[in-house]
Amino acid sequence: MNFELTEEQKQIRGLAREFAQKEIAPIAAEYDARGEFPRETIMKLGELGLMGIEIPVEYGGAGLDTMCYVLAMEEISKADASHGTIVSVNNSLFCHGLYKFGTKEQKEKYLVPVASGKKIGAYSLTEPQSGSDAGNMLTRAVLNGDTYTINGRKSWVTSGPVADFVVLFAMVKPELKHKGTAAFMIDTTQPGFERGKVEPKLGIRASATCELFFDNYRVAASERVGQEGDGFKIAMTILDAGRIGIAAQALGIAQAAFEASVKYSKEREAFGSKIGDFQAIQWMLADMATRIEAARLLVYNAALKKTRSANGGGENFTRDAAMAKLYASEVASFATDCAIQIHGGMGYSKELPIERYYRDARITRIYEGTSEIQRTIIARETLKQYA
Ligand code: CAA
Repeated sequence: MNFELTEEQKQIRGLAREFAQKEIAPIAAEYDARGEFPRETIMKLGELGLMGIEIPVEYGGAGLDTMCYVLAMEEISKADASHGTIVSVNNSLFCHGLYKFGTKEQKEKYLVPVASGKKIGAYSLTEPQSGSDAGNMLTRAVLNGDTYTINGRKSWVTSGPVADFVVLFAMVKPELKHKGTAAFMIDTTQPGFERGKVEPKLGIRASATCELFFDNYRVAASERVGQEGDGFKIAMTILDAGRIGIAAQALGIAQAAFEASVKYSKEREAFGSKIGDFQAIQWMLADMATRIEAARLLVYNAALKKTRSANGGGENFTRDAAMAKLYASEVASFATDCAIQIHGGMGYSKELPIERYYRDARITRIYEGTSEIQRTIIARETLKQYA
């Protein structure tokens, strides 16, 4: 496995790092405190080509590879995980899915504005009764002539409160379970679409999350993404890609916590020495550094496999994406917890970003599939490999 970065990948990492440190890091605490969507910086990320990184230029994207995407995600999330969430959902859950499964007309109509960052995309699979058991959806789409009528309620939709377009999964033939589902492109300006209140959250508070309601929402059959019956598989395929983005987000949060801890260990004094001279602190730093490095290798490995898959290698990266997300998200929780311990009372205070890193890290073990679901996927894929 060759993890040496190309000049292009280094450039993207540099661009994302510069923008994130100059424009995102300074505003992160105030947007977190207000729980406000950072529209201005998100629009600027679009201008930099970071809202549709892997989408070809002809469809409004930057035409880069998955490694560029994870490097940008890591840098953005290091400055602020809320921005990371918004960027990840736009890039992988919306743009990647539509690029892979959409028609040319759908791509021209929806992908171009979202990949170029002029409009915002969301992905809606979860319902109040179906989170991990995603196939158990109740939202119904009924075909009459060439129009579907959609009724139902979706929950935990990242960017739901601000999205212009949503990739929605609904049940067309409930008796067929997974095989009776389909995906649809939703225009949030159309009648029958309503948003619930913005969810108050523990972390990633500047990313907006809400329920979505469909009350006789009518959509032309030409807006169905993929075939009837393919909805669940499309949802899962998109999540395979999305999980690499969340893994990179977790890595960025962990790296931010680690760098702050190293700096503080060299500055803070106790018992007449820098605290970094004490073995208790050194061992925490050593464990953080080792686990972060291991997480990075898993994230880069998954990114390289996805690129090979996109280039026609046909490589399956379901297990690699799940491993990267599982491990990186648990490292983010570990590293942010250590960072609070190293900073003591200051780590617990809102004067420093450490407590925000700790809160933000927690969601990475839940969304786009909990750690328990990632373990299930890894086990299933592993057992298949050894069948
Ligand atoms: N790629 C392609 N197809 C897949 C697949 C994948 N990764 N995973 C499963 N499938 C296919 C299977 O091959 C199977 O196809 P056949 O019927 O042809 O055999 C079909 O899908 C059903 O698969 P399973 O029997 O494995 O389905 P299951 O009900 O046991 O569920 C699961 C499997 C892995 C638990 C899945 O339900 C899952 O991933 N759950 C978690 C859902 C999730 O991550 N939700 C988060 C949503 S997004 C979010 O967090 C909010 C946000 O806005 C960020």
